[in-house]
Amino acid sequence: MIQMNRRSLLKAGLGIAAYGTGLGAAIVSSETANAASKVELEAVNAKALLDGQHLTDGVMTYRSLGEPDALMPPTLRLKRGEPFSAKLVNRLDEPTTIHWHGLRIENRMDGVPFLTQPYVYTGDSFDYRFAAPDAGTFWYHPHCNTLTQMGRGMTGMLIVEDSKDPQFDAEIAINLRDWRLGADGQFIEQFKPRDAARNGTFGTVRGANWQVQPAYEAPSGGIVRLRLVASDVTRIYQLRLDGADADVIAVDSQPMPERFRLETAVIGPGQRLDLALRMPDVEGSVVSLLDTRPSTAKTVATFKAIGQSLKHRLEDLPPLSANPWQEPDLKNAEQIPLILSATAEGGAKESFCGSLGYTFWAINRVPWPGDSADPTAPLAELKLGKSYVFNLENLTPHVHPIHLHGMNFQVVSSSLRQVPPLITDTYLALPDEKVQLSLVAENPGDWVMHCHIIEHQKSGMTSYVRVI
Ligand code: C2O
Ligand code: CU
Repeated sequence: MIQMNRRSLLKAGLGIAAYGTGLGAAIVSSETANAASKVELEAVNAKALLDGQHLTDGVMTYRSLGEPDALMPPTLRLKRGEPFSAKLVNRLDEPTTIHWHGLRIENRMDGVPFLTQPYVYTGDSFDYRFAAPDAGTFWYHPHCNTLTQMGRGMTGMLIVEDSKDPQFDAEIAINLRDWRLGADGQFIEQFKPRDAARNGTFGTVRGANWQVQPAYEAPSGGIVRLRLVASDVTRIYQLRLDGADADVIAVDSQPMPERFRLETAVIGPGQRLDLALRMPDVEGSVVSLLDTRPSTAKTVATFKAIGQSLKHRLEDLPPLSANPWQEPDLKNAEQIPLILSATAEGGAKESFCGSLGYTFWAINRVPWPGDSADPTAPLAELKLGKSYVFNLENLTPHVHPIHLHGMNFQVVSSSLRQVPPLITDTYLALPDEKVQLSLVAENPGDWVMHCHIIEHQKSGMTSYVRVI
């Protein structure tokens, strides 16, 4: 049984029970993993210890019916292809919805107010029902007043299991996200306009599973499945492991066709990284997960080897089975421009679902006017079953994780780097990069596409495609 180290929490005077149940779902050994077909999630206001010292007011989170004392949104576990339902009950004092990031599900379950569903008002509820077609590491979050709601806590992990998944000696899921707190541990303004017009506004307290540098334990010489989600609203992580080898086994839920040894992996908001971590043989050795971005380098979490070495080898780990994928027909694909640019700064009118009050960014020169009952025309209308290539051009000196709802795309080529033909829902576009992303328009409906640096999303870098 894998236990987290609760010492730091105890020191901070927090009940074990509260955290024990809250994080229980995040750490499971693979044999005891328990998938549920039905959950009830209450969107609630809460207080939580986020910086290890102060109780922060105004936290927003999802509380699962069975775990009334939990703080971090529960890590949901589903079985691929099996019916799943989540009832969202809104106990916040503002509207909300849930978007299931990376899941190729029906449009009306996608959680975008006005485009796919009405608001879920205070006191109301909404039943999300779907079957996840792909296995892997995903996450969920609101699509309403997102900078505040996500910034204050509403980002949860979602794991889709495949019955053919290889056995690991342990599994540890880590939700990477920060908090913008002042010295007194209370929330400060979520963004600064001058940062929103650049890389976005960073948190002041670095977090992993709602803790500062949590310490985990795992069997010596064992193979651990490490599932990482970058659910922060701003931060781009440059991840490395110190003290052990690990293979990259999946990125953005998609198994790597060829596993490779992790050196440094860069993931932006919205992205996921699955690692097979080979724990050291010597009991007591500590492995560190580091974010190595220059000037902000940080240990994110640690893993201590416990027990006698299991002497398992990475080489013996069977591959993950591939998710279904329809190969786009590149020869006959229609080309669609997708130009990311800055725009003349403008004031944005108050819109549904929280406006930042500013416009800084645009897709195809059009800044998104905000969610409304009467949205602008789609960026493109796609015919069901046809192949398309998005010609993404990042004309800005900033990195943008571009996320498409409801479908995945495959990377064809980049002007800046050798890219494997990765399949993803969130492509991290580098400054001045031109990249071709292809897909078969396989899922009917209106699908939002936006930068997942939430300040960029909410100040213009959003659009949508219509599949009919
Ligand atoms: Cu993580 Cu619009 O999505
Ligand atoms: Cu961006």
